[in-house]
Amino acid sequence: MQQKAGPIGVFDSGYGGLTVFKELIRELPQYNYLYLGDNARVPYGTRSFETVYHYTLECVNHLFDLGCNLVILACNTASAKALRTIQQNNLPKRKDYRRVLGVIRPTTEIIGDFSQSGHIGLFATQGTVMSDSYVIEVNKFFPSVNVHQEACPMWVPLVENNEHLSAGADYFVKKHINQLLRKSADIDTILLACTHYPLLEPKIREFLPDHIKLVLQGEIVAKSLTDYLMRHPEMDELCLKNRERDFYTTESAEGFNVKAKIFLGEDVNAKHLGL
Ligand code: DGL
Repeated sequence: MQQKAGPIGVFDSGYGGLTVFKELIRELPQYNYLYLGDNARVPYGTRSFETVYHYTLECVNHLFDLGCNLVILACNTASAKALRTIQQNNLPKRKDYRRVLGVIRPTTEIIGDFSQSGHIGLFATQGTVMSDSYVIEVNKFFPSVNVHQEACPMWVPLVENNEHLSAGADYFVKKHINQLLRKSADIDTILLACTHYPLLEPKIREFLPDHIKLVLQGEIVAKSLTDYLMRHPEMDELCLKNRERDFYTTESAEGFNVKAKIFLGEDVNAKHLGL
């Protein structure tokens, strides 16, 4: 099969992956990127395994068709519910050089180092929490660390509807902080294990006790991708390096442009992708 270099694909159910994208372009600005948000079908966090797998695979295949050889699932829910099946069942059938990576593995590899007490809290979608992926993966790298999980089903809708900094968001932010902290008095580190949640960071910090560290994933994922591309020069060669960035959404491009600006702080010109 003819191998042709292409952009790095970055996928999320909506805008959340842009918090990872922002760190990727900061850490690895030389590459071309193609972002795809499945805004027409967000949220994924409340959907079944089968649905998240089906939606994610469909979007990954679109990114392959658009020329990406390497796709990052910048979405914890998709990483928890679809990545393994895609890596173990779908990619081997293609018999080609394309690869899909997620955000959970790079995070769990180092998250234990942030905590002194060995008690880490995490906020995530219902889907990520119910998959227990973080508990299982953290246990592999840090067997003595305890993970306390809290699902926050209203946080993604708040972000997607640009209500994350409104007074109305306070109730849901306080509610989940209190519920999580009730699970263990020893939590000294909290991971935002949903790529939408960094937009809520100012609100979370407002209500979080000062001694608790807040960990965001974007930088961790960007550093891990740097390392991956160094270890895989054959894949690095298949990633174009002209600093071009393209954005696709399964919803309206106009709406995407307005909201993406809030995430990225710069103008974007998205294209619509029909499913
Ligand atoms: N941004 C996604 C994540 O990291 C989930 C958002 C959703 O529920 O679709 O989990």
